[in-house]
Amino acid sequence: MQRTLSIIKPDAVMRNITGKVNAMIEDSGLRIVAQKRIRLTAAQAEEFYGEHKDKAFFGGLVEYMTSAPIVVQVLEGKDAIAHYRKIMGATNPAVADEGTIRKTFALSITQNTVHGSDSEESAKREVSFFFNHIEVVG
Ligand code: CDP
Ligand code: MG
Repeated sequence: MQRTLSIIKPDAVMRNITGKVNAMIEDSGLRIVAQKRIRLTAAQAEEFYGEHKDKAFFGGLVEYMTSAPIVVQVLEGKDAIAHYRKIMGATNPAVADEGTIRKTFALSITQNTVHGSDSEESAKREVSFFFNHIEVVG
């Protein structure tokens, strides 16, 4: 069993489709073992996405991620990190596979509906960024 950090991003929260995203997550076999709705501050978004701070899209990404509430969650399952990246689909929804969350719901490369950790190291950092051990119930 492995855990990964998922974020349902502002575009999905604003369109009131978090349940539809969660249904795709659960239908794929992953289990939601922690979940909460929060609103990021700019400082929090900048810290969370620190690896991208020198990228041209960084300012727009921080602006977007702070534009509305998000739902942060911990997903559990076999190979959860790779499994979730696969059902999320590519960063750019225009090239994402059919049936993926991003192909189904994303509005643009920035407003792409979900975040998922990309490695064991980032999953560990990202889960503990949002949740303490008491909040994650497997
Ligand atoms: O989220 P993912 O790991 O697939 O992509 P990333 O390369 O780690 O980028 C993080 C986030 O920045 C993306 O999910 C997009 O929301 C945003 N982004 C963007 O706005 N423009 C790009 N050219 C690339 C990423
Ligand atoms: Mg990433």
